[in-house]
Amino acid sequence: MQIDSTWQALSHEAARLIHVPLQQMLASDPKRATDFSLRVGPVYANFSRQRFDDKALGVLFGMARDAGVPAAFRAMFDGEHVNGSEDRPALHTALRSALGEGKTASAARAEVAAALSAMQSLCDRLRASGVTDVVNVGIGGSDLGPRLAVEALRDFSDGRFRIHFLNNADAGNVHQLVGKLDRKRTAVVLVSKSFGTQETLLNGDILKAWLGDDERLFAVTANVSRAAAFGVPAERILPMWDWVGGRYSLWSAVGLVVALSIGFENFQRLLNGAAMMDEHALQQPPESNLAVWHALATVWNRNGLGLDTQAVLPYDDRLALLPSYLQQLVMESLGKSVRPDGSPAAVATVPVIWGGPGTSSQHSFFQALHQGTDTVPADFIGVARPAHPYRASHDALLSHLLAQGEAMANGAADADPQKAYPGNRPSTMFLLDELTPQSLGALIAMYEHSVYVQSVLWGINAFDQWGVELGKKIATSLLPAVASGVELPVADPVTARLLAELRSRR
Ligand code: F6P
Repeated sequence: MQIDSTWQALSHEAARLIHVPLQQMLASDPKRATDFSLRVGPVYANFSRQRFDDKALGVLFGMARDAGVPAAFRAMFDGEHVNGSEDRPALHTALRSALGEGKTASAARAEVAAALSAMQSLCDRLRASGVTDVVNVGIGGSDLGPRLAVEALRDFSDGRFRIHFLNNADAGNVHQLVGKLDRKRTAVVLVSKSFGTQETLLNGDILKAWLGDDERLFAVTANVSRAAAFGVPAERILPMWDWVGGRYSLWSAVGLVVALSIGFENFQRLLNGAAMMDEHALQQPPESNLAVWHALATVWNRNGLGLDTQAVLPYDDRLALLPSYLQQLVMESLGKSVRPDGSPAAVATVPVIWGGPGTSSQHSFFQALHQGTDTVPADFIGVARPAHPYRASHDALLSHLLAQGEAMANGAADADPQKAYPGNRPSTMFLLDELTPQSLGALIAMYEHSVYVQSVLWGINAFDQWGVELGKKIATSLLPAVASGVELPVADPVTARLLAELRSRR
């Protein structure tokens, strides 16, 4: 693997700092807690517990400039084909802001405006109808974004609709759900950009048969002809486009159930929050750009300090799904090991993203975060003002949030090594003023832009996902053998043995 001079400079800085404790860095630069922090609207972020100093940051910002990050942002917003392997733009920003220049971006915005208006009419129609329950059927980006936003913004729901989600091919879920629903008061939305995703079509088939008529069956898709062939008439289809990646699609009609849950005006506020972060990401220079700071902290931990994983730790149960959402956003976008020209990536790319909400996670995996052999950098996310009146509980939650960041950074000595905390474990602290449609939109957009910056630094395509295709292809070829009661030839000897085992037990 060829390590170019950029990465050598990074390694050089990391070698200088790898044994410097965070506590020492903080003590030798008391202004760091303030200087290494940024605010963008309702989102405050503090990077002072990352294990870089001004000099290392200088190298990192130099890398961002050398890699052309500002121009890369411009290219993405303007609709250049930043998704090279599929020869497409990645114009999720056109779903919420007017910053893209040129014909492609403005044509996309015109389609978005029409789609938003169709989405709003559908919301109004459903509100005026007798529908009480709406089932979102989709998987990956057609599920995680809406599910995260509906849950995170539950305080903004007037309770008009109960929203349900079906994603997996495990039909136990749909079986349970239909037992609880009244088919005459249920609307089903099949969300699939491709309208070819097996899990969604299997659940869709079951629900279509269960609904009995198709009046309350809707679709959101970029493949209208497939949806029509499935049995959803054109007037009940909302559009998607090939220039929006599934994991970047929350802001489109994929967010229909979010708009139903929180109302269309609040959905618009979610878009406005993301648009505010778009403007910041596009217009701020790297040194004052929150998404760039976040991306550089990730690259520093991954490539400088050699840390393999990254924890996401929201201290608000409404954000409990954020780690899963980011697992797709980050790992599907950055789980690549070759560059568009086919050459290997110069350095390690995506870290494993995992996590869970505090304080519950403190009673499960935090032991490993504090005393395990691996250092896991963490993103903490806290919310200053809760949406409930229980001040004492929120005080306790915030104290835990603050305590965990401090304990990971500073550690604690003890005569008994089993009771000592090594500390020096880096983290970034995000504080939202409140969890609102705006702040959620801004936070998610910040992560999207950070992912893009990381992809630019690593020289990989953040917008394709070829790695998920092989398993799907093999599953399709195996299905006849799984479905058949008799033995069919299967090439792989282990799969053949496992199939025989399954067949004997079914
Ligand atoms: O898992 C691959 C993937 O293509 C994701 O990128 C996507 O979000 C998900 O499947 C669902 O795809 P679709 O919206 O086309 O059903």
